[in-house]
Amino acid sequence: MENIRSQFLLNPDIIHLNHGSFGACPKPIFEDYQKWQLELEKNTVNFFVKQGPILLEQSRKALGEFIGCDKDDVVLVMNPSYAMNIIAKSFPLKNGDEILCTDLEYGAMDRTWNYYCKKAGAKYVQQKITVPVTSKQQIIDEFFQGLTSKTKAIFISHITSSTALRLPVEEICAIAKQKGLITIVDGAHAPGQIPLDLSTLQADIYTGACHKWLLTPKGCSFLYVNRALQELFDPLVISWGYQSETPSHSQFIDYHQLQGTRDIAAFLTIPKAMEFRKEFDWETVSDSCRKIAQANYQRFAEAANATMLCPASDEFLVQMCSLEINCPDTVRLGTLLYDKYRIEIPVFMHGNKSYIRYSFQGYNTQEELDKLFAALAEIRNTTELLS
Ligand SMILES: Cc1ncc(COP(=O)(O)O)c(C=O)c1O
Repeated sequence: MENIRSQFLLNPDIIHLNHGSFGACPKPIFEDYQKWQLELEKNTVNFFVKQGPILLEQSRKALGEFIGCDKDDVVLVMNPSYAMNIIAKSFPLKNGDEILCTDLEYGAMDRTWNYYCKKAGAKYVQQKITVPVTSKQQIIDEFFQGLTSKTKAIFISHITSSTALRLPVEEICAIAKQKGLITIVDGAHAPGQIPLDLSTLQADIYTGACHKWLLTPKGCSFLYVNRALQELFDPLVISWGYQSETPSHSQFIDYHQLQGTRDIAAFLTIPKAMEFRKEFDWETVSDSCRKIAQANYQRFAEAANATMLCPASDEFLVQMCSLEINCPDTVRLGTLLYDKYRIEIPVFMHGNKSYIRYSFQGYNTQEELDKLFAALAEIRNTTELLS
């Protein structure tokens, strides 16, 4: 995969096993990004007023074709937190209502829902999922144990952050819809890592990041809302699209696309990112990465003296593998791995548990994972940071 490695801007002195946190953008896509910034600067008024809306529509179209939705049902936003704040702020919550989620959700999303639930007197129910997980059915059964007559919506990650587990969101959304609930999915890690088809997935609301596994520059994410629900959600930033004097055919797009003066260059790179995927046959790249990630999970667990969080199968694992570790200081362990071994890998807390997670992307090699395992073994033998 040397040809692929050379496409990326990553520092060659660092073993980058953390694609999951902020992605990594290949050179041709980054050049496209800079091209748009230059265009914008050369002719600001024309760019913002005339070209901008047309170019954004082209980006939404390219994205919609990839994720299986109409271009007018998806808006481009900076990050999934932004998307979920749009939703949680306007969600019609009443005193006593409940939002059902798992205890494996991303911390920023937990904070968002907790904040708005508290304001409305509603409850954010973080249903416990037993980890290691053993089957999809176990997750589904445990999740719905949190359901009550007060549940208004479910909120769930397609692929979790600290535990890196692919959850059975397709099945869970189908059951939730049968029960008349609104389904909200945090798919930050999904697009580009697993196939996504919003026309069949019964998610009413879905957010995903393009700057992780779709390889765009940072600040490119999306919010999809089922057309029937779009009018529920006000813009997070009230601007010219609200009570527009020149409304377009879609209030949803007017509301959330017009957000004051901002750099939209990252949004415009989606067509280039799609072209890059085709040129490098990224589905095949991604498939082989997934296989290597899974094949190394057991060795990772042995090196860190930890237990795998799930069977090493397609049901639960894609291009990231995580372990719960016995570590008294995650910051120090992460710093040691970076400073001494030159390995960038996230070591973090979720609740009171410590985790370490590798990502495997097209630019990574087996040799890099071998170095990680050797480093972990040495750290176990020589420090108190891993036992
Ligand atoms: C599950 C999950 N949701 C959401 C996010 C997005 O976070 P942000 O909005 O801070 O980019 C992440 C980022 O890693 C994540 O792992």
